[in-house]
Amino acid sequence: MLKLDNVSKVYPAGKNEYAGGIRNADFNLEPGTFFTMLGPSGCGKTTTLRCIAGLEEPDKGRILLDGRPIFDGAAGVSVPMHRRNIGMVFQSYAIWPHMSVFENVAFPLKVSKAERYSTAEIDKAVHGALEVVGLGGYGARSATQLSGGQQQRIALARAIVHRPKLLLLDEPLSNLDATLREGMRTELKRLQTELGITAVYVTHDQTEALAMSDVIAVIQKGHVQQFGTPQDIYFRPANEFVAGFIGHTNILRGKSLGGSADAVTVEIGGGVRIRCHADADQRSGETVGVSIRPENIVLAGGHEVANENNNRLIGRVGSVSFLGNVLHYVVTVGDQAMQVESNPDRRFEPGSEVALSFAPRHGRVLPVA
Ligand SMILES: Nc1ncnc2c1ncn2[C@@H]1O[C@H](COP(=O)(O)OP(=O)(O)OP(=O)(O)O)[C@@H](O)[C@H]1O
Ligand SMILES: [Mg+2]
Repeated sequence: MLKLDNVSKVYPAGKNEYAGGIRNADFNLEPGTFFTMLGPSGCGKTTTLRCIAGLEEPDKGRILLDGRPIFDGAAGVSVPMHRRNIGMVFQSYAIWPHMSVFENVAFPLKVSKAERYSTAEIDKAVHGALEVVGLGGYGARSATQLSGGQQQRIALARAIVHRPKLLLLDEPLSNLDATLREGMRTELKRLQTELGITAVYVTHDQTEALAMSDVIAVIQKGHVQQFGTPQDIYFRPANEFVAGFIGHTNILRGKSLGGSADAVTVEIGGGVRIRCHADADQRSGETVGVSIRPENIVLAGGHEVANENNNRLIGRVGSVSFLGNVLHYVVTVGDQAMQVESNPDRRFEPGSEVALSFAPRHGRVLPVA
């Protein structure tokens, strides 16, 4: 449905800055996919969307929509924006305050160069789109009389009114409060599934990305770090950056002593050895990071040995906070502060010596970022 083939768009660098943009983006999306680009501010998410929409011309690469090139740097092809049949919701959702709800949503049809619409067709399409976003009957209202969440839906109705095959959404929920945001998240996902539309969604909120997406690209400084399902990204992060960006994690630096993928030994500070898991066999002598999620560590008293097959590190509790469903600890192990989440049934007070235990499969060996 949408294919990006080695697409780059790099802006000239300012003083003492790296040149912003996106580099060598490669994606291939099946029809109906909900695809999310996730990454910190300035990593190139909006740039990529603008390239797909036709608001920005890439330096190189190819973009194919439904098998047809809409951009091809080498062949000199660039289909103008209004002929790409793409709907877009902008980061600031850009509702026109002087227009009614109806006029806002009808706008793309009225100015369409690709197709002429009759008044009756426009009427039908706008009412249909408003119905879909739950704003049936709001057409005559002035756009400014609506709440933030309702304005958000107008922006969405306007993006889908011409029935695009592809919908681009740039942080569409970022201006909403937490409750509304969660509601809209579910609604947006339902809408996308119902319309069978392919969506490219942009966010820097990892929970949102995990909850909504079929596939995610994690981007850092213009480079795609990993492209995969939410499960892939969470459980099999490609490197330290991805592991740290998606959910909380502890990274222990150490030296690999080699081994087959499912039984790698890593020596961390103070000569302590732990058994870990990697995606491939490991060579000896390399510096690696080991990612251990806070929820995969079990705490016990310093003298207890819970499970002989697990790795066992000794540390001292620095702080403990009650978060309702879990206790959150910061435990000092050597010179490293480790985060641990555990069952509130048992509590270790600050200062106590504890044993941190985790299964080898929960220590993931990652390339150093
Ligand atoms: N027109 C431009 N000229 C020069 N640099 C630009 C231009 N547009 C964007 N950049 C730079 O390119 C980088 C990526 O910008 P982009 O807007 O794609 O980031 P983003 O991932 O959408 O960030 P955010 O989450 O803050 O919206 C930034 O460093 C930005 O400063
Ligand atoms: Mg942006």
